[in-house]
Amino acid sequence: MAKIILTGDRPTGRLHVGHYVGSLRRRVELQNSGEFDKIYIMIADAQALTDNADNPEKVRQNIVEVALDYLSCGLDPAKSTLFIQSMIPELTELSFYYMNLVTVSRLQRNPTVKSEIQMRNFEASIPVGFFTYPISQAADITAFQATTVPVGEDQMPMLEQCREIVHKFNSVYGETLTMPQIMLPDNQACMRLPGIDGKAKMSKSLGNCIYLSDTEEDVRTKIMSMFTDPNHLKVSDPGKVEGNPVFIYLEAFARPEHFAEFLPDYAGIEELEEHYKRGGLGDVKVKKFLNNVMQSELAPIRERRAQWEKDIPAVYEILKKGSEEAEKVAADTLSKVRAAMKINYFDDAALIKEQMEKYAANKEN
Ligand code: TRP
Repeated sequence: MAKIILTGDRPTGRLHVGHYVGSLRRRVELQNSGEFDKIYIMIADAQALTDNADNPEKVRQNIVEVALDYLSCGLDPAKSTLFIQSMIPELTELSFYYMNLVTVSRLQRNPTVKSEIQMRNFEASIPVGFFTYPISQAADITAFQATTVPVGEDQMPMLEQCREIVHKFNSVYGETLTMPQIMLPDNQACMRLPGIDGKAKMSKSLGNCIYLSDTEEDVRTKIMSMFTDPNHLKVSDPGKVEGNPVFIYLEAFARPEHFAEFLPDYAGIEELEEHYKRGGLGDVKVKKFLNNVMQSELAPIRERRAQWEKDIPAVYEILKKGSEEAEKVAADTLSKVRAAMKINYFDDAALIKEQMEKYAANKEN
């Protein structure tokens, strides 16, 4: 069976280093591994509109931002198909059919939907489109017959719900859709990178993000102001590394080469953590190291972004070509879905003949 990746992001802002370690870096590795037959990366503008219906301009502005972030991380349009969700109308038709296979109470139990409803103060009045977005996400995944969906931990309930829809569809209408597998980050620190203020999640509204498009200076300032262990006051004090964002970031970013290059007194992260826990290692020294590590990871991304920023029409052209290609694939799946659901009336010569014969027989009687 072909190995196919589909994943994507909502264009509601520029992408940050949490997106990077949680999913983007992995996508680029998977792309370059050559192990996949097809890779689809979707800018989920229609999903972004489910909770930004009154702000379409925000979504529209951020499409190119997300595309620039993709390209600057090394997603390569020659190897991965980059496209825009709303340009694939087949996805909405699939969603409409899948809606019949999901109950309201099942959607209400989806933990991601639940927590997002709370976060957005939607309790009193939930937009229907928002409430049903897990169904549309199942359409995104199945339209491309994706086998593998690399996403962050927060998307687990979405994948679970998608798998239920696939199972239900195939058992009601016959084997048609491919059962997708989630692919989570393999490193705990990458699962959910905290904000620079130590809050559990990086989020634009909390102003605690480091963006992929931040300047070198911005990144340094943010790292040097990062929250650490509040009880680690003097260098000689023992410090805590659990829940300490500086160490979580190091776990997500630092590789042995970084120690060799920037902090050769330590063999690796364990040694550095031991020293911090014992006392005698200052926050500034650790932050400077983190800054070196992150700058070396982010510099090539920033350089590639600067290049693409000079050719915005080319970025739109990539998305247009990608969307055209993606639509063909989704249309093919949709026609299989319609056939399985017996709603291909005009394509089915046997049906027309059957009806004709029925009426011919009626006349004879
Ligand atoms: N829900 C995802 C997010 O918020 C975006 C998304 C939409 C997606 N459709 C998808 C991710 C399909 C993976 C597969 O980031």
